[in-house]
Amino acid sequence: MKRTIALGIIGCGAATESFHLPSLKSVRSINVAALSDVDTNKLNRLAEAFGVGNRIPDPQELINNPEIEAVAVCAPSGYHYELGMSALDAGKHLFIEKPVALSPEESEQLIKKAGESSVKAFVGFNLRFHRNVRKAKEVIEMGKLGPVKLVRSVISTNHPSLAEWRKSRRLGGGTILDLGIHHFDLLRYLLNSEAEEVHARSVSGDIEDEASSVSLKMSNGVLSSSVFSFESRHSNEIEIYGDAGTLRISFYDIDGFDMKPVSAAPGGLGSIIGRPFHTVVEITSNASSFRHGGIFKESYYNEWRSFADSVIRDKEVECGLEDGKRALEIALSAVESASTGKPVKL
Ligand SMILES: NC(=O)c1ccc[n+]([C@@H]2O[C@H](COP(=O)([O-])OP(=O)(O)OC[C@H]3O[C@@H](n4cnc5c(N)ncnc54)[C@H](O)[C@@H]3O)[C@@H](O)[C@H]2O)c1
Repeated sequence: MKRTIALGIIGCGAATESFHLPSLKSVRSINVAALSDVDTNKLNRLAEAFGVGNRIPDPQELINNPEIEAVAVCAPSGYHYELGMSALDAGKHLFIEKPVALSPEESEQLIKKAGESSVKAFVGFNLRFHRNVRKAKEVIEMGKLGPVKLVRSVISTNHPSLAEWRKSRRLGGGTILDLGIHHFDLLRYLLNSEAEEVHARSVSGDIEDEASSVSLKMSNGVLSSSVFSFESRHSNEIEIYGDAGTLRISFYDIDGFDMKPVSAAPGGLGSIIGRPFHTVVEITSNASSFRHGGIFKESYYNEWRSFADSVIRDKEVECGLEDGKRALEIALSAVESASTGKPVKL
């Protein structure tokens, strides 16, 4: 008989409702056996909508439930450490949303605890599992862009009403800790390199780090420049500049994988005429992603498949707590730099 993992999810907020539960419906090797949320209205609403029978308001009770084999920590970021430690303590496989914790010390404790047993601990950096990121990694590793020199990136979102925790650095909020951390992880992943120095600026009002700009110097010499905002049109893109070509990836647009050789003339007629053709080719080749909600939402489906695979086949996780800690260190250094106005060495 096919092996199924009994998963309990803690936190019935936006991420669980819009991304995790819809994706998990098509992952046959995972059964969402229980949901937990301290807000029973949210708990009941999601349990009804997704047909989950077991509703457990107290997250500790879900963790202790012997029928639950794996725990997904999707509560606000300030609770990740405490809930993650409890799940590991109880011997459960762990899926933990980003950021893994709010300090390097807490991340280290999680790594240590996970290392004491054979459970899997997986961090929810879903963009690593995006089809365009997988293609980009291949292209970079094949040398098609030549040595990479520069990266520029943007994430902007537009929440009609931001949860209180998202407004406070102390609780893991602000654009650097909440949004930027995704791209800091991607830079490490795509460039196979660690951040060496970070310089950041941010604008804070009612929301701390409501908009931010972060520059990194990576240990392989690549420079990156990113901007993050909570208050504009949804956008999530990365551009990579190598000495043989450039690559633009959008995580939302179906035709968002655009590679050009260094010889392509900027604004040239060839590239303008080629655009509709490029779009048709991209729509056709990405049509399969519509089964999972399109190319962006599909990244969550892919990450859950990867999580299940690591548990069932006892494989190394593709994105672990050490990755979570490294990305957090970059984000925290960026927050420090934005506060002091000075660059921070990692
Ligand atoms: N990987 C991604 O793309 C992605 C996207 C969105 C959010 N996230 C992460 O997921 C987490 C949740 O984000 P969200 O947007 O769903 O937040 P949210 O504010 O929409 O929802 C959080 C939910 O957790 C519940 N909650 C609060 N304290 C709790 C506790 N102690 N135990 C159980 N439930 C508790 C709240 O009642 C709420 O329903 C955050 O850490 C965020 O960084 C990741």
